[in-house]
Amino acid sequence: MEDILKNLTIEEKLGQLTMIPPFFYIGDLKKEVFGALTELKLDEKKIFLTGSVLGIQNHEEMNLVQKTYLEKSRHKIPLIFMGDVIHGAVTIMPTPLAQACSFNPELVKKGASESAKEAMSKGLQVTFSPMSDLVRDPRWGRVNESFGEDPYLNYVFSYATVKGYKSEGLLSCVKHFAAYGLSEAGKDYNTVDLSRINLFSYFLSGYEGAINAGADLVMTAFNTFEYVPATINKYLLKDVLRGKLKFKGVIISDYDSLLQTINHRTTLNDCDAAIKGITAGLDIEMASSSYLRCLSEETKKNPELLKLIDEAVLRVLKLKEKAGLFKDPYKKKDLSLDTSKALKVSYDLASESIVLLKNENLPLNKKTKVSLLGKYVSEKDVLGPWSWHGDPNNTDELSKYINAYYKSDFEIFEHYDIEKIKKTEHIILAIGETRHDSGEAHSKADINISLHYETLIKKLSKLNIPITLVLYTGRPLVITNIVPFVNNILVHFHLGSMTSKVVADTIYGINNPSGKLPMTFPRHIGQVPIYYNHLSSGRPYQETDPYTMKYIDISNEPMYEFGYGLSYSKFKYSNLEITNKKATLNNLPTIKVTVTNESNIKGKESVLMYIKDDFASIARPVKELKQFKKIILKPYESKVVEFKLRKEDLSFYNQDLKKIVEKGTFTIYIENLYTELELE
Ligand code: BGC
Repeated sequence: MEDILKNLTIEEKLGQLTMIPPFFYIGDLKKEVFGALTELKLDEKKIFLTGSVLGIQNHEEMNLVQKTYLEKSRHKIPLIFMGDVIHGAVTIMPTPLAQACSFNPELVKKGASESAKEAMSKGLQVTFSPMSDLVRDPRWGRVNESFGEDPYLNYVFSYATVKGYKSEGLLSCVKHFAAYGLSEAGKDYNTVDLSRINLFSYFLSGYEGAINAGADLVMTAFNTFEYVPATINKYLLKDVLRGKLKFKGVIISDYDSLLQTINHRTTLNDCDAAIKGITAGLDIEMASSSYLRCLSEETKKNPELLKLIDEAVLRVLKLKEKAGLFKDPYKKKDLSLDTSKALKVSYDLASESIVLLKNENLPLNKKTKVSLLGKYVSEKDVLGPWSWHGDPNNTDELSKYINAYYKSDFEIFEHYDIEKIKKTEHIILAIGETRHDSGEAHSKADINISLHYETLIKKLSKLNIPITLVLYTGRPLVITNIVPFVNNILVHFHLGSMTSKVVADTIYGINNPSGKLPMTFPRHIGQVPIYYNHLSSGRPYQETDPYTMKYIDISNEPMYEFGYGLSYSKFKYSNLEITNKKATLNNLPTIKVTVTNESNIKGKESVLMYIKDDFASIARPVKELKQFKKIILKPYESKVVEFKLRKEDLSFYNQDLKKIVEKGTFTIYIENLYTELELE
């Protein structure tokens, strides 16, 4: 690659650091794209210098763009094609937040590898996934793209996702570095303000998981960190990403985020942004062209920049080499692509991602006479945000599957005909958010279930017919007012291509739900941000003392906490044991717990182990998830689940940002049991 680099002109080098959409190479530049072209400020010569492409429809378009480009380019370095395959390309997997409910990294990895096959068949070499931003505020539209509020889950699922992509050769770009998930008040693109110790302790974990699994690129965030936009933030990109996380790959901006530093009022103009970008360590700028337009002139004034440019270009060339583009820059149609396996994986993942929050009558007996109500009864568009080539016409509506189980006598009511509903024995109400209610630029100030649904549910509850609420949503909602009026609640964060089958199978017990929440459901919107692993307060909550951490109008308790989720099986936890109560770091104990299925229904259970550091030199969370295992239990079967404690389960960042372990006692919690450990 060094040889190629040596032969490039400065303009050609800067082109390698520029990403634009595909249309520019194959559209009629003089006519249709005039507006957009003006904004990008590139002439035809410069367009054919650029090095990477954002988004592509299919392999034919990819081949056409590549061919047109290679014919015109002097150096013949192929373009690399990147795009947002977030939870599937054609076959849509559950959204990342839904996948996190599965607590099953192996399945998540399988899902990613199926998505990788499909993405690559479309001509992509890189996906802009995973989004490893830790989230604590369900008003933020993008919580749906995340793995939720817990740093360990973020690590594990980011790791599994990247491994899945890699297993098929798809390169991946983890985003958005760093702490984009902390947008103030849940408002997208808003300020982010957090301390370094908070960044290190909680927010880096997801990106670290992706990088340790071998993510090839990192995308910078739209937000500031310590008042400097992430895209030009030297501390973030050099000290943290390259230094601490040892990331060796390519750093790319988010869409136009380099020039948005002008709106942040931290750069004066395009050229100032370009200098600050390359100096901070930004390799590729996405959807803007300040490097290409400014840096050649700037290197004459400041030859130091040349070195930075060369290093960045070399990383891009190595990325292209890794993608196999120098061997074959084109994509042949992949005739062997079999989506039936992807659909099966999508089903398996969705079946473990649906969460049962309340249960009085499920699973339903097939003979029960059912009223099927709500928007999602006949809706095919259930794929969730960012579903790329997923075609809602290829999905089936819920009524089709309910019909399959309950062949006669079930009624679909579009207009809530109360007289007819009265003649049935059970109401299934399938409602909630659409795919357009969450995602980028889809933050909400009000996450209460709508008044319309609340009124409807209260009205239906007067009929004294059991109600099953199936809630479709992209984020945790406030459902406090309706919980007492329904008998059963199944919730999911958009399950993808197999949504309807999984919902029906779960209602009728063909699937036994095993999902647990990766993000807390608040009881009231005023509690947001709310997350389980908050620090211990100096005035912890006490019911009788008003001067303790509480509200005077609502309780502190969430509606459903992180980790909550029921099963049709009845699991009992017993015999929590620790092999040695006193330990040193060289002799850490194993924790054992017996889980028994006390029902006649086979089920899966995620066993979660939390730890509380009882005393430390800095305030520590009330508890933190440290390990988990998912097990399957046959009717009446018992299993002993073991967790070997690791040093990292006990460690934390101190004020000097050093990861340390302090001696003392720790409490280890599994379900309703706990034990003590004394570290000497
Ligand atoms: C989003 C990124 C995405 C990029 C490219 C941006 O607006 O924030 O997550 O990867 O667009 O589509």
